[in-house]
This record gives sequence, C-alpha cells and structure tokens, in this order.
Amino acid sequence: MTKPLLEVEDLRVRFHLRTGTVEAVRGVSFQLGRERLGIVGESGSGKSQTGRAILGLTPPPGEVTAKHLAFDGIDLQTASKRTLRQLRGGRISMVMQDPKYSLNPVMTIGEQIIEAYQAHKKASRAEARDKALAMLEAVKMRDPQRVFSLYPHEVSGGMGQRAMIAMMLVTDPDMLIADEPTSALDVTVSMEVLRILDELVSERGMSLIFISHDLKLVSSFCDRVLVMYAGRVVEELEARNLREAKHPYTQGLMRCLPTLKDDVRPLPTLNRDPSWAL
Ligand SMILES: Nc1ncnc2c1ncn2[C@@H]1O[C@H](COP(=O)(O)OP(=O)(O)OP(=O)(O)O)[C@@H](O)[C@H]1O
Ligand SMILES: [Mg+2]
Repeated sequence: MTKPLLEVEDLRVRFHLRTGTVEAVRGVSFQLGRERLGIVGESGSGKSQTGRAILGLTPPPGEVTAKHLAFDGIDLQTASKRTLRQLRGGRISMVMQDPKYSLNPVMTIGEQIIEAYQAHKKASRAEARDKALAMLEAVKMRDPQRVFSLYPHEVSGGMGQRAMIAMMLVTDPDMLIADEPTSALDVTVSMEVLRILDELVSERGMSLIFISHDLKLVSSFCDRVLVMYAGRVVEELEARNLREAKHPYTQGLMRCLPTLKDDVRPLPTLNRDPSWAL
C-alpha cells in the first residue's frame, strides 16, 4: 500500500480560557489518500478546528498537540515556518467556512487571486491574470471580468464563497480542506461547485476533506465519512455503507433525514445520550 498523503494521529485542540479549558478536538485520528473524505457532525463538534489544526491555523489561544501529523511525509509539527508557508496555499489549501474573514477587504478579488498564484508559482503578471480569470470562470462566476475588479464587500455571500474557492484552487493543490464550501450557495450553484471539486479530484487526483453538517450531501459526494461528536470521531464509514452505521448518534441523524416518500409525524428528534460525549 502506498503511504497516505495525510496522517493524523491523536490530534487534540484545547482552548485555555479564563472560564476553564475547552477541549474542541479530543484525539482525532485518520489517514487520507487520493480520495474524498467527508467530516460530518453537529455544530460545535470540532470539524472546523480539526481542519484548521492540520494547516496550523488554530486561532490563539488554542493549543494543538498530536502524536503524529504529517503531509506527504513532512512532519507538520516540526516543519519550519517557511516550509509551512510554502505548503499552505500551495500544495494544501483550505476554503474557510466564512469567506468574509478569509478575503482581504481592501484588495480586489482579482488581485487576491493573482497574489495567491504568484506567491507559489513563478509566473508573469499577465499569466497570473489569465489564470485568475480562468479560475473565476471555472467557479461559474457570471461576468468574470467584472467580478475580477470588485472588492469583497461588493459581491454577494455566494459570490464571495466562489471567489474564495477560485483563490484556493488556483495553485492546483494536492489537498483541499473545504469547510462548508457550499453553505452560502443556492442549490444549483452549490451543485456546480461540487461538480468542480469532483472534477479536480477525479482528473487531477486531488485529495479532498469535505466538512459539512449535511449527512446526505456528504454521503452522496464523498467516498468515506468520519462522524464527529463532541470533539471525537465516533464512527468511520464507507459512504455507501452509511445505512450500516452503528453509533446511535449516526443512526439518529439518519432517522432525522427528510424523505419524500413517507410523511413522518411527529418529526423525529435526536435525543443525545450524555455518554456519547465521554
Ligand atoms: N477561538 C475559540 N476559542 C474558544 N473556543 C473555541 C474557539 N473556536 C472554537 N472553539 C470551540 O471549539 C469547539 C469546536 O468548534 P468548531 O468550530 O470546530 O465546530 P464545528 O464542528 O466546525 O461547528 P459548526 O458546524 O458550527 O461550524 C466548540 O465548542 C467551540 O466553542
Ligand atoms: Mg465549523
């Protein structure tokens, strides 16, 4: 078997606050090959913090520890700042949950994509500009020329999210962490974005970590699914075997999925057992 691209063993993220310590991620382990891995779980279960810790983007005062954290054999815990900077935005990209905080408000969208490209590739400005426009087109931006010269506050939430995706994919990364990448998009644009991601995975062999709270979307789009609850992975499944879920939390989620066939009344509720969080 070839070595996995990403190895995560016993990842922990803690926030030491005045009011006590919050354990956001409590011993997450998984490996990622050339595949689409979904991470699902309810709000606050630690999905985003898992993604951010892998990239070294845990916000202060967060503390990250792991037994092993490696990308393509590079130990991410001991790598130099320079190596990490080169990896981030180059071979590894992350689409953050809220594009508002990730786009620079005082730079046009086009300039930001050009900057991202030139930071990692040797390219003339004209080449970078062509690439940026092609990327805006690839994320189905209507009138890419116009969007190119707009500032982030001049575009809608969904356009901002697609601009962000364009910026993250412009360097052709080997691995993309996409944190709720379609949450601000309507169904049709959301499907377009998923199709773009799907193409990158199948044509270029990009590895994808797809974070979402939408179990149905994740199971139809990903190959494998990690289910998180209270900072831990409670279940790992092949997406096609979701019906064989053993953990009561996953089973509860499945029961809560709406169906067209049956009119379920009263609507099912998920009763959380305190022992799941132990
Ligand atoms: N900057 C921070 N300071 C303190 N605690 C934090 C901070 N950021 C996140 N947390 C805590 O870490 C836990 C996990 O948060 P995380 O953002 O990973 O959740 P999530 O699964 O991505 O949820 P959502 O679906 O709402 O995006 C939460 O309990 C949250 O309160
Ligand atoms: Mg999140």
